[in-house]
Amino acid sequence: MCGIVGYSGEDEAAEKIYRGLKKLEYRGYDSAGIATAGNPTVKVEKGTGTIDEAIDSISEAEIDGNVGIGHTRWATHGGVTDENAHPHRSSSGAIAVVHNGIINNYEELKEKHLSGHDFRSETDTEVIPRLIEEKHDELEDFHRAVEAVVEMLEGSYAVVAVKDSGEMAAFKESSPLALGISDGELFLASDVTPFLEHTDKAVFLEDGDVVRIENGDYTIKNSGEEIEREVKHIDWDAEEASKEGHDHFMQKEIKEQPDTVKRAVFQDRSDVEEAIDMIEEADTVYLSGCGTSSYAADLGAKYLREAGYDVISEQSHEMEYWNDHVTEDDLVIAISQSGETADLLSMLGDVDAPVLSIVNVVGSTLARKADHTMYINAGPEIGVASTKAFTAQIAVLKLIAETAEASLKEARNSLIDTAGKIEQTLEDNEETVEEVSDYLQDQDHVYFIGRGKGFEVAKESSLKLKELSYIHSESFPGGEFKHGTIALVEDGTPVVAFMRDEGLEDIFSNAKEAESRGADIIGVGKENVGDFKYFFDIPEDENSEILEVAVFQMLSYRTAVKRGHNPDKPRNLAKSVTVK
Ligand code: AGP
Ligand code: GLU
Repeated sequence: MCGIVGYSGEDEAAEKIYRGLKKLEYRGYDSAGIATAGNPTVKVEKGTGTIDEAIDSISEAEIDGNVGIGHTRWATHGGVTDENAHPHRSSSGAIAVVHNGIINNYEELKEKHLSGHDFRSETDTEVIPRLIEEKHDELEDFHRAVEAVVEMLEGSYAVVAVKDSGEMAAFKESSPLALGISDGELFLASDVTPFLEHTDKAVFLEDGDVVRIENGDYTIKNSGEEIEREVKHIDWDAEEASKEGHDHFMQKEIKEQPDTVKRAVFQDRSDVEEAIDMIEEADTVYLSGCGTSSYAADLGAKYLREAGYDVISEQSHEMEYWNDHVTEDDLVIAISQSGETADLLSMLGDVDAPVLSIVNVVGSTLARKADHTMYINAGPEIGVASTKAFTAQIAVLKLIAETAEASLKEARNSLIDTAGKIEQTLEDNEETVEEVSDYLQDQDHVYFIGRGKGFEVAKESSLKLKELSYIHSESFPGGEFKHGTIALVEDGTPVVAFMRDEGLEDIFSNAKEAESRGADIIGVGKENVGDFKYFFDIPEDENSEILEVAVFQMLSYRTAVKRGHNPDKPRNLAKSVTVK
């Protein structure tokens, strides 16, 4: 999810936009650009690299004018190239836009409305300025053209558009967009940080809002009707503001998951089909990653096994010792949020098989090494502990497996339905999260058990708790616990049991075995049949692992905060482990 800025006022736009973009660099940093209007055409300066690399000279000669837009990109459609950097222009160049989000129907719009166009980029975004220009030629009114195009778009977007006349428009759906109001000048931005130094008055735009900006004044329409939005007073500092009201990036990223799981499943059909072809052609499919990504790999292996494929999942630092078994007739599915994990890249180093990578950071080393890459589109994950990236990884893996077995539409709808339950599931379990995080405060050891896919959920939940709260925790397949480790159970030992349909009777017995030896059982499932001390209610769902993990992300987060730790920066850890 990239960062966008717009400015309309009395000063030079480029300098204010540049300073605003610098505040948004945390939102994406693979390319950047600025466009200014009204002098008398739209001028654009953009390129790959950080903001300073991409926009190497904010000089009068190049991009002057007092109306402009800027963008720092986190690519989702189209690689990291100068042409794919934003702003994107219309066919004549008289209109330019910056966009945060994904236009899901961009291919269809190209086919139906822009077939004769010679596109400059591979992005989904470029359809927007071209459609606005087509509509402008028809309606001869910039703002009416914008309103008409908004009706055509499907997906997530926050867009700011400028015309050579100096007119500016903005509109949003799902992606954030704020309007900053200062004397004689107006700002638009992905969050308030770009304009906090100029004004503390902001309007947080709502889905469906279309903003018209002209001569330092604005109007807002929604569903064709002019409306008023409350002007709020912002008393955050910049760092606080980029957390959009959350206490930590991790909390924000946990709560972004209803949107990021949806973004993950809006993969181009051709990308999913290519991944399935690679799996079909392989003798054996190997999945590999590290840490949280290795648990996504383990879940992916179970999804693909259920779909009838021969799969093996192994953590990369171990697989390196036997990867000579992998032949060119096999396939390696490499999973990584950062795409820079040394253990994974090293294991891949001398592997002959084709590589399918499932990765978040576009243009990362893994993305560039792989034969085919599927991006999870989770946007920058600032919290060191992986949250939204993990659920996006497993959503993509399930999308592939279930498309192979049934259909892309069915797989996508099932996962979108699950994504729609995340917010309510977190809300329904808020009280229990507070109760159990209070209880876990004073514990030294916690054990997690699960069967089938519940074991992967147990592994990931255990890792979240220990890496954030520094409480020792271990995870076991439910059936394994009694083969030794149960010796550690004493009165009051916390044992978390994931009670999913898979092996429900057996995991219930495993929990009772522990409870009969004094354990405090923390159950997770559809109903507290065992009348356990604590119980997290998870609604019936085909993809309940996504809901279970989200609850334990929040439990781990709250436990860490109550123990006085900074969940965004746990001790000893790095966001990307680029050493072996
Ligand atoms: C995630 O919570 C951990 N901090 C860590 O295990 C991480 O998942 C692992 O280092 C792999 O990182 P990657 O996904 O960027 O490859
Ligand atoms: N989908 C657009 C692109 O790939 C915007 C990306 C984003 O919002 O991160 O350029």
